[in-house]
Amino acid sequence: MKILITGSNGMLGHDLDKVLADKHELVLTTSKTLDITDKQHIIDFICDVKPDIVINSAAYTDVDACEENQGLAYCVNGEGVRNLALACKEVDCALVHISTDYVFDGTAREPIGEDGEIGPISVYGKSKLKGEEAILEILDKYFIVRTAWLYGINGKNFPKTMLELAKNHHEITVVYDEVGTPTYTPDLARAISDLIETDYYGIYHLTNSGSCSWCEFARYIFEVAEVDVEVIPVTASEFARPAPRPSYSVLDNKNWIQKGFKPLRDYKEAIREYIELIK
Ligand SMILES: NC(=O)c1ccc[n+]([C@@H]2O[C@H](COP(=O)([O-])OP(=O)(O)OC[C@H]3O[C@@H](n4cnc5c(N)ncnc54)[C@H](OP(=O)(O)O)[C@@H]3O)[C@@H](O)[C@H]2O)c1
Repeated sequence: MKILITGSNGMLGHDLDKVLADKHELVLTTSKTLDITDKQHIIDFICDVKPDIVINSAAYTDVDACEENQGLAYCVNGEGVRNLALACKEVDCALVHISTDYVFDGTAREPIGEDGEIGPISVYGKSKLKGEEAILEILDKYFIVRTAWLYGINGKNFPKTMLELAKNHHEITVVYDEVGTPTYTPDLARAISDLIETDYYGIYHLTNSGSCSWCEFARYIFEVAEVDVEVIPVTASEFARPAPRPSYSVLDNKNWIQKGFKPLRDYKEAIREYIELIK
């Protein structure tokens, strides 16, 4: 298939490229070559390329900065996605769009299915929801993939930050009252690769298996990396950040399992592989 990937130099974009390159003809674009906020350029470009599928891994992902730069957040994560949906409609191709657990408010206490009640509490979450809504309004052929707590080789992420901090600190404070599922971008990219072989359009929750708090995740990272650091648990309110985060956002990968796919591997197995790779 001919697949156009936006945000291809991002963390997930990098692994989508690696996973899909052997099997498909890829058209890789970045914010410089294809700005998704430029409606006419998006439509002209996609009409010219005529892809079979567009995968949108572009987004304004700095959750805290979104609180300050609301205009930009809605422009990229909302209008940008609308532009892509309109362009896909024009050439009748499917759109894979990556969304987030931050569309939920965090009040759930058990894994949230695709039909769980939406209620974003941050500008980032609200802007990502706008993107989802635009797709639902415009397209029939879409895969909206909500994922969470991503880390991979090509980008800033929590495991890298923890290991970096540990070089100069004996104690690190980490939030314990936010629970989710760390997800390894190559695992997500492989799942997307499987999904696009089907026409099982719809909304999917796709994460590694299991769940933990940021604090538990940090402790596990240090255990695996054999780094001697004390992790001091703090509440999210003690660890002040501009954007509120859901206190619980574990995603039940229900639709994925119902379609006959295997659950993604446990997050502990994935982080072990990652640490082995970066050490
Ligand atoms: N990271 C997470 O923990 C997480 C969790 C849940 C969901 N997600 C979602 O997963 C997807 C991938 O996330 P990621 O962590 O891989 O993101 P990332 O590393 O920040 O990459 C995002 C990419 O989007 C590009 N971009 C930004 N504005 C653009 C624009 N106007 N036009 C075209 N490209 C633009 C960026 O390009 P430049 O670098 O050139 O600006 C960057 O390469 C996003 O949709 C994100 O919302 C992420």
